[in-house]
Amino acid sequence: MVDVEVYGKMLSTLPEDDDHPYRSGPWRPQSIEYDATDLDVTGELPDDLYGVYLRNTENPLHPAIVRYHPFDGDAMIHKVSFRDGKVSYRNRFVRTDGLLAEQEAGRSLWAGIAENPNVSTRPDGWGARGRMKDAASTDVVVHAGVAVASFWQCGDLYRLDPLTLDDLGKCSWGGSFPSDLGVSAHTKVDDHTGELLFFNYGTTAPYLHYGVVDAGNRLVHYVPIELPGPRLPHDMAYTEHYAILNDMPLFWEPELLARGRYASRFHPDIPSRLGVIPRRGASGDIRWFEFDPTYVLHWTNAYESGDEIIVEGFFQGCPEPSSAGPSGPKDKAFRFLAQDIMQTRLHRWRMNLATGQTREEDLSQTCTEFGTINSGFGGRPYRYNYAATNETRLVPVQRAGQARHPDRARGAIPVRAGRVLQRGRRRPAGGRDTGGRRISRDAHGRHEP
Ligand SMILES: [Fe+2]
Repeated sequence: MVDVEVYGKMLSTLPEDDDHPYRSGPWRPQSIEYDATDLDVTGELPDDLYGVYLRNTENPLHPAIVRYHPFDGDAMIHKVSFRDGKVSYRNRFVRTDGLLAEQEAGRSLWAGIAENPNVSTRPDGWGARGRMKDAASTDVVVHAGVAVASFWQCGDLYRLDPLTLDDLGKCSWGGSFPSDLGVSAHTKVDDHTGELLFFNYGTTAPYLHYGVVDAGNRLVHYVPIELPGPRLPHDMAYTEHYAILNDMPLFWEPELLARGRYASRFHPDIPSRLGVIPRRGASGDIRWFEFDPTYVLHWTNAYESGDEIIVEGFFQGCPEPSSAGPSGPKDKAFRFLAQDIMQTRLHRWRMNLATGQTREEDLSQTCTEFGTINSGFGGRPYRYNYAATNETRLVPVQRAGQARHPDRARGAIPVRAGRVLQRGRRRPAGGRDTGGRRISRDAHGRHEP
């Protein structure tokens, strides 16, 4: 029989009858922290399923100053534990500096991504844009035995015990954490080396940095990467010997940025670029390769094959949907979360380090995103990617936009599209990828308001 205890409740000043489209229905925020044991199980769990599934989510506690965007909510980690056929659940807010300050104030203090930074009530803040709250709500990975929550606009990395979700404070890396720029979400943990690879970005040159934290939680590498201007990278990839960074033609409009306004635009006339740098390489070691214009929110994996670096992720056929929506401005963010509108398809980019040649192709015509793999195959050849599909009826938006470059070749489909959460157990690193996967990770969508 299910046993449920309330651990705590955060102050929420949201109205009881809140009907905001991003705070109601399936988006309704949770402000209570629970411990629940002996959950009812429908069906049968594998006897050897032993571990935890971690998921980071956005849970707003206060009305926005002006306009709420679904990526502004405070981080809550949900944990589902599996052992001996039993299942338990626990959820905890990530006690960020911003959350605690707003709990004390009883209201929102920082402008969200859909608001002008000038409406912030405080001059300080976090994020590549600045004057934002670091919600730490985008991603969660486990590095050196600790769960690490992060924020897509760069911020602190918040540490939690992955089994109890106890607050363990922020990453300091022995005092070498890059507090000036923070760290972006989608850090990468290489199970083979225990390293955490990361990047951060900002509005001042060189606009990007890349770094490595070793298995002992020491910052062992941190180099600037020069870009043509401020960019909005959201994810990175790695192989056994290289890290792959990106420079995509969707970025803050420079003229508006100069006036303190942050509006991103897609530039279909500018190629996408992937940068390949040895994992401990110097800034000058990076090599850039050009591809069809697009924006990629999430990569699935990358690996080496002879002279080639092969990167896979979700190509956006329509990175900038029309702003027109059936129900006005409140629909706007939904359109940037809808895979069928963004036309997100699994795609493969190839770079030959010997010849400089590139190739790219779609791997599937199905619109999917939020891929994940058995992490024992991170950076190595693999067979299976588990990705989320988008049920369009759940998203109240109109179809808009056209897929770009329709002439792309259609390739093989080594992908199983389905539910994000798949049962399975982790395979030893270096074994055959039979589809088992570690249970972990993030789920969030497009960051464009
Ligand atoms: Fe993401």
